[in-house]
Amino acid sequence: MAEPVQTPHAFPTRIFSGIQPSGGLTLGNYLGALKRFVEKQDEGIETVYCLVDMHAITVWQDPVRLRQQTREAAAGFIAAGIDPARSILFNQSQVHAHAELAWIFNCVARMGWMSRMTQFKDKAGKNSENVSLGLFAYPALMAADILAYKATHVPVGEDQKQHLELCRDIAAKFNNDFGVNFFPITEPVIEGAGTRVMSLRDGTKKMSKSDPSDQSRINLTDDADMIAKKIKKAKTDAEPLPSELDGLADRPEARNLVNIYAALAGMTPAEVVREHAGSQFGSFKPALADLAVSVMSPITTEMNRLMQDVTEIDRILGAGAERADAIARPIVNDVYDIVGMIRSR
Ligand code: TYM
Repeated sequence: MAEPVQTPHAFPTRIFSGIQPSGGLTLGNYLGALKRFVEKQDEGIETVYCLVDMHAITVWQDPVRLRQQTREAAAGFIAAGIDPARSILFNQSQVHAHAELAWIFNCVARMGWMSRMTQFKDKAGKNSENVSLGLFAYPALMAADILAYKATHVPVGEDQKQHLELCRDIAAKFNNDFGVNFFPITEPVIEGAGTRVMSLRDGTKKMSKSDPSDQSRINLTDDADMIAKKIKKAKTDAEPLPSELDGLADRPEARNLVNIYAALAGMTPAEVVREHAGSQFGSFKPALADLAVSVMSPITTEMNRLMQDVTEIDRILGAGAERADAIARPIVNDVYDIVGMIRSR
């Protein structure tokens, strides 16, 4: 169960998180992030959620598709339960504080820290001479996203853990260099069964919007038939489900389907195996498919309905950006003062 959110000393609790609109949203994004964003909002905490379009362009994005994907992601957020009146929902590029603070953080973060980022190494691979400078600097922009709001808690999936450690290092170094207690040391919030949803084709690889195989993931745009087909075709093994989680230790694909079931049903993985002990995948997969369809299909339908009116989506993002700017602008102005920049206009 979720731990109660603890507030670091002297900073009021504020949640920030972001998703890249670099492709359609996946079940991984939904279970690892979006579903949990809605839970935080519904707990009555101040929540700021951002479609990070400036992160997306660290790899090539077709401009027409980027705009479409940003609107679709916004529709997905609202369809999943984000209420733009209660949460602040906007796209990053409309709030200039992110880019401004990112530059300051480029001058705080050390090359050695950045070079250790495993996600950069994974994404750049053997091609590191040829990727954008933005891809390397990306985690400093991510720290700026969070700290422009002095956010105290950031719900994310497991894969973002190292980036959040870097955010804490940047905040601590800034505070220390300038002798201030200005930025909070933000807490990552990585909880529940869905923080690492794996590919349906390979239980050792993360489910990702950039995987070349569409069969590897469930997209928020997939219809009920497609969701059911993908789950029924998911890679598994020939053993029945055990009654204890230990029995899944060397069975990554089986473990993944149990985790997905648990996250969708609001159960723990241990409860799922207890309930389905002895089941073959021939019966567990249809049960999982039914559950996934019952949770995801209403979201997809609502998302498609919202996409009929993109003017309204753009209006919501603009209004969210104004509210975000009202928080972030004074914080970044204070940063300029701390750093020693003249502000005389
Ligand atoms: P992104 O766009 O890759 O993913 C968005 C969120 O979804 C989670 N996620 C997953 N969770 C479980 N299983 C998966 N297979 C899976 N795939 C993705 C991610 O952990 C993330 O929480 N750098 C970030 C975006 C970002 C951000 C921020 C996040 C930019 N600025 C500030 C938090 C705070 C990213 O690329 O996420």
